[in-house]
Parts: sequence; structure tokens; C-alpha cells
Amino acid sequence: MTFFDTHAHYDDQRFDADRDEILRALPGYNVGLVLNPGCDLESSRKAVSYAETYPHVYAAVGYHPENIDGVPDAEAEAGLKEIEALAAHPKVRAIGEIGLDYYWCRDPAERKRQQELFRAQMRMAGRLNLPVIVHDRDAHLDCLTIAEQYPKVRGVFHCYAGSPETAERLLALGYYISFTGVLTFKNAKKAVEVVRRVPLERLMIETDSPYMAPEPFRGKRNSSMYVYRMAETIAEIKGLPLEAVAEATTENGCRLFGIER
Ligand code: NI
Repeated sequence: MTFFDTHAHYDDQRFDADRDEILRALPGYNVGLVLNPGCDLESSRKAVSYAETYPHVYAAVGYHPENIDGVPDAEAEAGLKEIEALAAHPKVRAIGEIGLDYYWCRDPAERKRQQELFRAQMRMAGRLNLPVIVHDRDAHLDCLTIAEQYPKVRGVFHCYAGSPETAERLLALGYYISFTGVLTFKNAKKAVEVVRRVPLERLMIETDSPYMAPEPFRGKRNSSMYVYRMAETIAEIKGLPLEAVAEATTENGCRLFGIER
């Protein structure tokens, strides 16, 4: 049995003391694949360097909406030149994480800038024929609208927090839905409903390490070693054996990110 942690941030400083130790150990803990997305230029470069060092690690590159002020020109491809160059690396398998984060952003003009950056990266993904990893925080309708504007681009909505109805529209566009430790929390009613309704062939699992540790590790530093908890929870909700969920979610990630097993 092998698990694919499709979203973990090993560039985070909370891994400075033991990053290499953890990344090397993961296959021994049945975590056979990890995808490390970037959130800005520096973390994207680090993601690529981990992918170069560890055979089981893959990378995504992009600007997270919270890092918009670090983009030379958020409204145009010119500001994304260095990301686009990194994306040519053979172990870069997606553009991400990109999207919209309205949680801290109340100003309509700032939200519009986030939308432009998101669109520019969707165009880049389309041009490079790479899938996208979408971060959507309190911006469900606008993320869906932008996804629908680029119907040729496929991807995953990570740490999914939207409704079952929005999930169905994303499935129709060819997107996958991915869950973090939030799914294991007691109050995760909406996420549980989404898992019930989304076919196993379109679900992925992730830790979003070092954030979002699942129960019973909630509040601790997360790592890919805990990714089995999301598979266990999906197995419980869908009434399936753990092995079937591990196999399907790994297969789904490999299909989306073009990884041969
Ligand atoms: Ni993330």
C-alpha cells in the first residue's frame, strides 16, 4: 500500500531541523510520492531542488495569492517569466499553488489584482499544458468562474472547503477535489458530504504540511507521515477498505500530474 501526499510545503522553516531526515524516511512509511507546491519564486525554486534530490518528490511552481506583492507584474505574463522558466524542469508537474484568498483581503481592488494573477497563471498552465493546484479561501464563486473561463486547463482544488454543488461543477470541468486534515475534524460536516458525493476516481489526499495536521495530531506540526489519516477518513465515509482508497487516490494523483509508477 502506498500513499501520495499531493500537497506539502517542505520549504517551510519548521522543517529546517529535520527536512532531509523526513523526506528520506517517507517511502519507508508507505508515503511513496509527495508533491511540493511553491508559493512564490523562492519556495518554487526550493520545491524544484527537493524534486531533484529525492526520486519520490515532485514539484509545482507558482505564486500564491497572498504573495502577490512579490510578483514583478501581477497582471501580466512578464511578471511570471522566472516561474515559467522553472516550469520547464522535468519534475515540475503543475502550476501551483495559485488561486484566490479573500480571507484577509476585503478591498475589491486587491481582490481584482488577485484575480488577474490567477488568470495569468491559468493562461501559463494552458500554454505549458500543465495542470493547476488551486487555493480557494472564501472565494468559491470567483475561483469557479475563473476555472470555467479556462476549460482546457485541468487541476485540483486543494484543501477543498466549498459546497457539494460547487464540487459537482468542478468535476464536470475535469477537476479533482483534495482534502487535508480538516476532513478529520469533528465539525467537518460539509467536507464529509462532499466526500460522499464525489466519486473515488476524482478524490486526492494531502497534508498541506506543516499546516492542517489531522486528528489526533491536530495543532502539531504536520508532515506527510500523517497522510494516511485522510485516506482512513475517506475509507470510513465511503465504506471502503483503506487499501482501495490508498490505491485510487495515488492513481488519481499520478494521472493528473503525469507520473509513471
Ligand atoms: Ni498549501
